[in-house]
Amino acid sequence: MEPMKLPGHKAQALIERDHAVISPSYPRGYPFVMDHGKGTEVWDVDGNRFLDFMGGIAVVSTGHANPQVVRSIQEQAEKFIHISSDFYHEKWIELGEKLDEIAPFEEAAISFMANSGTEAVETAIKLARYHTERMNFIGFTGAFHGRTMGAVTFTASKPAYHGGFYPLMNGVVHAPFPDPYRPVLDRKPGEDYGETVVRYIEEQILEHILPPDEVAGVLVETIQGEGGYIVPPEGFYPALRELCDKYGILMIVDEVQSGIGRTGKWWAIEHYGVEPDMFTTAKGIASGMPLGACVARKSVMDWGKGTHGNTYGGNPISCAAALTTIDLIRDEYLENAVQMGQYALDALEEIMHRHPSIGNVRGKGLMIGVEFVKNQETKEPANELTERVVELAFERGLLMLSCAKSVIRVAPPLSISKSEVDEGLQIFAESITLAEKELGML
Ligand SMILES: Cc1ncc(COP(=O)(O)O)c(C=O)c1O
Repeated sequence: MEPMKLPGHKAQALIERDHAVISPSYPRGYPFVMDHGKGTEVWDVDGNRFLDFMGGIAVVSTGHANPQVVRSIQEQAEKFIHISSDFYHEKWIELGEKLDEIAPFEEAAISFMANSGTEAVETAIKLARYHTERMNFIGFTGAFHGRTMGAVTFTASKPAYHGGFYPLMNGVVHAPFPDPYRPVLDRKPGEDYGETVVRYIEEQILEHILPPDEVAGVLVETIQGEGGYIVPPEGFYPALRELCDKYGILMIVDEVQSGIGRTGKWWAIEHYGVEPDMFTTAKGIASGMPLGACVARKSVMDWGKGTHGNTYGGNPISCAAALTTIDLIRDEYLENAVQMGQYALDALEEIMHRHPSIGNVRGKGLMIGVEFVKNQETKEPANELTERVVELAFERGLLMLSCAKSVIRVAPPLSISKSEVDEGLQIFAESITLAEKELGML
């Protein structure tokens, strides 16, 4: 396929204007300047068409400009846009009821509505301290939970998130995330690697660093996102649940990226048959309208009036978009994520066998990571090649995003069709071949 010359004139001019007035801290990937989108397709301001395999970082769950979501936003905007969280409205209540229906625990669920993932995480941290009257937490290396001061303390995927921002929050100790492809701990014979990590938490962290009766919670991304789309082994969550129960520690799962149907179940934790005490959601929940939530068991969300709040929580337009998003996912896209996820995973495994630069393919539903290596034996990360693949795919009309050192994530809208999966993977495979040739791997 002939590559496009990017950015085009209009995109270039807008990027120059952006650089003059927008914070340089944003981690811009490549020069895509959006004009409009429909489903899995997007167009830039110069009229170039792309397939979107990253869905605004796993946000556009029902596809770009889903007509039903657009209609519910329009209808709500005509009624009212804001009233503040000091009052009540029906869409907010309805969303709480829906989250209670789909929450991954038997006990009734109570929701605190936030405006972003990081605010949902911040809420979980505060609630855990308040409820347990304990101060400390366990987090994981490679984690990404957001960038506000509490959440960023748990974030441990790149030093750039912490550099220049100390002192962070007190009382967070990180354990290694159970990465089956890159284990860092020694496993006992016959032990599931997830159990190894939980044993490390008990034998090293709780015996040497944190008194267990002063630990409020364990905060973990059910499937690690920014850290590399890492799926923990089967034994991890059952063992972690047992550890939390033993010491009265809350198990808090961050489902901001992995939740709301992304993995083919409402919440990724359901793949493990374990009930958390609290979870966070954002990203895909409202198809791109800003909304997050911290959802806890009723017995855990026991704080009183005025202890925590916000101005925009339960914003009616975001709630309206979320209600339609949840209906669409329940009726159609959850099943589509299972089908298309398996189809894409099988196809990617096949592509892996043809490419020496791919070390590992893993995922659940439409949350799939492809890890690139310089050598399949040594597993040395292939950073340069990874970034080159993303660039070559972009020039050929496919939007992808990398994560960790050398992983490309496949996280398209949950509404993606089979022909779109085929088209995107063809461009992806071609881009890998070209990058391998350029970097002397073929
Ligand atoms: C797992 C997870 N938690 C929290 C966040 C933070 O969300 P936000 O960027 O909406 O603050 C992200 C964002 O990428 C995420 O992936």
